[in-house]
Amino acid sequence: MPVITNIEDLRKIYERRTPRMFYDYAESGSWTEQTFRENTSDFAQIRLKQRVAVDMSGRTTKSQMIGQDVAMPVALAPVGLTGMQSADGEIKAARAAEKFGVPYTLSTMSICSIEDVAAHTKTPFWFQVYTLKDDDFMRRLFERAHEAKCSAIVITVDLQVLGQRHKDLKNGLSAPPKLTAKSIANMMTKIPWGLEMLGTKRRFFGNIVGHAKGVSDPSSLSTWTAEAFDPALNWDRIAQFKEWWGGKVIVKGIMEPEDARRAADVGADAIVVSNHGGRQLDGAVSSIRMLPSIVEAVGKDVEIHLDSGIRSGQDVLKALALGAKATYIGRAYTYGLGAMGEAGVTKALEVIHKELDVTMALCGETDVKNLGAQNLYVPQGFGDPSVPL
Ligand SMILES: Cc1cc2nc3c(=O)[nH]c(=O)nc-3n(C[C@H](O)[C@H](O)[C@H](O)COP(=O)(O)O)c2cc1C
Repeated sequence: MPVITNIEDLRKIYERRTPRMFYDYAESGSWTEQTFRENTSDFAQIRLKQRVAVDMSGRTTKSQMIGQDVAMPVALAPVGLTGMQSADGEIKAARAAEKFGVPYTLSTMSICSIEDVAAHTKTPFWFQVYTLKDDDFMRRLFERAHEAKCSAIVITVDLQVLGQRHKDLKNGLSAPPKLTAKSIANMMTKIPWGLEMLGTKRRFFGNIVGHAKGVSDPSSLSTWTAEAFDPALNWDRIAQFKEWWGGKVIVKGIMEPEDARRAADVGADAIVVSNHGGRQLDGAVSSIRMLPSIVEAVGKDVEIHLDSGIRSGQDVLKALALGAKATYIGRAYTYGLGAMGEAGVTKALEVIHKELDVTMALCGETDVKNLGAQNLYVPQGFGDPSVPL
């Protein structure tokens, strides 16, 4: 087993092990990928304040997300097609999260179904909802999430239409992969991945194939989004979903203070400041730069979470110190999963936990809940995206 010291190590193994189509699907942003790149580079603009001769014993990273105890404030973000990165990938990721003590969010566009993941885990997970036009399907989806004992829904509001990722079109992304000369040639070089995949029945969009109707190519993510997703989603509809669900609701994909206010007004329990990991609006500002103004606008009224660009425990610390109550990782755990299955997701969580814990200590803090502006040097104008960095 190679020595893995950071998330980048996992990414390199993942790249070698996984078919190109699925690696590219994760490791890309929309159009020019400007937002995808800035999500990570903007974290690097923030510096940490070193403090010394502070008692660093008895440290804790424990916190809460929507009232739920977490070992650290880092949840696994919803990631579509996870079960194509590694066979039964959603079950593996959910198990790793459960053992570690952090929330797992299952995507609508998962390969393993809600029922599959519930049958293989004990701790309630969160279910991410994309809104399809078909009302019967949506009501049934909420019922299924209730029956599976999901403890919250995460409504993603930034994907009524799909941002274009050039590589997905060129690779002909689908689940299961379509067998073309190019995809076969590439998969021949990924034998362990292929053998595991042959050993599972879970190779389709488990939550929707067989449940939702009227889609011309059920294996294609872009066809589902173009034909079945609801482009008319609005705040009334989000309020209606909250009523149908009747439990905790997290609204994901907020980038502007006005939208944060609307989400708080419809009664969201938390919002996720997110630009979908740079996969939707290319040219949008990084989510870490939008955090301060959103905290200022609604920080007292709603719990604020953040994702997009987190690759280390240091990044988590910066988001918390800028006012987020918690964070999510998408690619960081997907790399781990593709590199070495459940053990790789655990490794990604361990890496981030250790980085968070030790960095917190070197900043002179002992409790993750006490991180704040006192720990950071933030460039002037960072929280004002009209000022170039
Ligand atoms: C491969 C991939 C698939 C994703 N699928 C979904 C999805 O199905 N639903 C959703 O709400 N967000 C989805 N996202 C966005 C993530 O939930 C999250 O916002 C993003 O990954 C955070 O950025 P990071 O990857 O830099 O951590 C996806 C992201 C990636 C990388």
